[in-house]
Amino acid sequence: MCKGMEVKICLIGMGNVGTSFLQLLKEKQDYIRVNFNFNCKLVAIFEHDGALINNGGIDLDSVLEDYTNLRKNQYWTSNVKAQDLISTLDIEICIETTPTNPNTGEPALSHIIEALKNNINVISSNKAPFYLQYAKIQNLAEKMNCLVKFEATVASCVPALSIKESLIGNTISRIRAILNGTNNYILSRMTAEGVSFSVALKEAQELGYAETDPTLDINGYDAAGKLVILSNELLGWSKSIEDVKIKGITKITPHALELAKLDGYVIKHLAIAEDNNLTVEPRLVKRDSPLNIQGTLNLIELQTKYAGSIILIGKGAGGFEAASAILNDLINIVKKRRGF
Ligand SMILES: NC(=O)c1ccc[n+]([C@@H]2O[C@H](COP(=O)([O-])OP(=O)(O)OC[C@H]3O[C@@H](n4cnc5c(N)ncnc54)[C@H](OP(=O)(O)O)[C@@H]3O)[C@@H](O)[C@H]2O)c1
Repeated sequence: MCKGMEVKICLIGMGNVGTSFLQLLKEKQDYIRVNFNFNCKLVAIFEHDGALINNGGIDLDSVLEDYTNLRKNQYWTSNVKAQDLISTLDIEICIETTPTNPNTGEPALSHIIEALKNNINVISSNKAPFYLQYAKIQNLAEKMNCLVKFEATVASCVPALSIKESLIGNTISRIRAILNGTNNYILSRMTAEGVSFSVALKEAQELGYAETDPTLDINGYDAAGKLVILSNELLGWSKSIEDVKIKGITKITPHALELAKLDGYVIKHLAIAEDNNLTVEPRLVKRDSPLNIQGTLNLIELQTKYAGSIILIGKGAGGFEAASAILNDLINIVKKRRGF
């Protein structure tokens, strides 16, 4: 590989994750150049109402300094959509960080498909396309000889998916995980303080740990989506969210938690992949179990054939956390493509 090779990229969705990614890219530019011999050139940013496209490279300082600069830039065009313009871009990697409809995966699904059809590698922080259409995306990527990476979709920066590479000589037989920080926070508070579900939920919302509409979290759908992605990636399954038996946390009472406590247990909302079955539900866990993590943390326990249990724990959300997973994916794609 020659020194200073250029890798052209586009970003779709400059919100929390997208902006954090651009900031991280700016911070790490020199590090990437020195350690991996490439320069990242951002040639397009798409938002819901238009696009900034400059083949000569977008000035990161300007768009990061003031968000409104995006739309004031001479290369900004209003009322154009990423889906219609991806095919016109001369880029190697498309980074997809829009919000998604949990039932259709759109608009991210169409962005991903369109990029792959045009021989562009994809990085996404969006879960829905992968828990709804995993096989379709992977088959298309294979057909087009492209790479698709989505580390940020499960537990954000915790290397839940890329650990597969590190365990290539082992066999993973079961996954047990805590994949929704909101639910874990609520259950931790109910256990510690004896408060009701609704009081703990309100507290989580006030602290910004839960959405104004927390339905997808508390009914278990969010964790189920992540479990599908984990099991497909780590166990080689080909499941979608309809395959998951899902129970949320709304029916857990302080009384049930108290009874569990008397027997030395706590109740945790676990996502389990075992014996070809996917389950998300509240389960009793021994108080001294490593699964008994507190607050908004995420946990992934991999039961392996040759090394017993391996556990990853970390922050499952946050703009920079997700952005660091995206940058990791980006460097790995370039390394793989360039054969180093
Ligand atoms: N935040 C996290 O901690 C985290 C962690 C891991 C994964 N994720 C996932 O990453 C994705 C992005 O999250 P986020 O927190 O960055 O969301 P966000 O702050 O709402 O940002 C999304 C951005 O996408 C833009 N957008 C909306 N529709 C678009 C379209 N059709 N084309 C182009 N841009 C469009 C939005 O613009 P407007 O606001 O102007 O509509 C906004 O700038 C979500 O799927 C989320 O689940 C988030």
